[in-house]
Amino acid sequence: MTLLEGKRILVTGIITDASIAFHAAKAAQEAGATVVLTGFGRLSLVKRVAKRLPTEAPVIELDVQNQEHLDGLADSVREHVDGLDGVLHSIGFAPATALGGSFLECPWEDVATTVHTSAYSLKSLAVAALPLMSAGGSIVGLDFDARQAWPAYNWMGVAKAALESVTRYLARDLGPQGIRVNLVCAGPIKTMAAKSIPGFSDLENGWSGRAPLGWDTSDPTPVARAAVALLSDLFPATSGSMVMVDGGFHALGFGTEEIAQAAAGQG
Ligand SMILES: NC(=O)c1ccc[n+]([C@@H]2O[C@H](COP(=O)([O-])OP(=O)(O)OC[C@H]3O[C@@H](n4cnc5c(N)ncnc54)[C@H](O)[C@@H]3O)[C@@H](O)[C@H]2O)c1
Repeated sequence: MTLLEGKRILVTGIITDASIAFHAAKAAQEAGATVVLTGFGRLSLVKRVAKRLPTEAPVIELDVQNQEHLDGLADSVREHVDGLDGVLHSIGFAPATALGGSFLECPWEDVATTVHTSAYSLKSLAVAALPLMSAGGSIVGLDFDARQAWPAYNWMGVAKAALESVTRYLARDLGPQGIRVNLVCAGPIKTMAAKSIPGFSDLENGWSGRAPLGWDTSDPTPVARAAVALLSDLFPATSGSMVMVDGGFHALGFGTEEIAQAAAGQG
């Protein structure tokens, strides 16, 4: 596959080899891209994981809440590549009070951290990468469908709704510079972030029963491939969009098993 031949892609959000970003970086390299990574916090761990990619990729430190890191990002990336054709935002964080716990009692400080890290950061990353994208390109984020309320997802759900809106405003403001901004809206995948969602196992069980194509929570490949497609030249006229990669879950009001039961009841 040479979908990303000659493209320079910045991938954020690897912390383990289960991270969606790890699989996206792997798929991007397999599609011919040169990949540069950013890591948050445990950089030695990220560097170790980076060695497991088909080609080891350099790692730059980036805490999206740290303005100095954001201001220095373009220069740090230039040490490895002379520009960027694409950026993957694969970042989310919520304190325990905001994810699970009581939606009604979560304090503003924790909501603010959640929204800053998980939604505002898409804007921060886009602005930081802008000096490297003078020829246009593609920015892709990772979403969990925020058009409805979920058990336990709470303020992370609100942050994802903000992320969806940030995507549309960035699409508006960066479109004239030839930059597309889109989200891959993924079904549940077993990662470190997912483990911090109380009741994640209920979500994963319910998902595979309802999704018409089925859904494997231990296979991030379909999500990674969708990210590669959006980073490529295959979607030149798509911006401000959410691409659903969830086995078709979002399209059904009832699960296939519930539909079969209802049909059997009628017969
Ligand atoms: N796993 C799922 O079920 C699922 C489903 C839909 C969307 N997503 C989204 O995919 C993205 C990646 O999550 P994942 O599931 O691969 O989990 P993950 O834990 O592997 O990745 C989350 C990443 O966010 C990074 N991060 C947290 N705070 C940061 C900060 N201040 N600055 C920079 N980076 C920071 C972490 O270091 C980590 O690499 C997230 O946006 C998540 O919400 C995940």
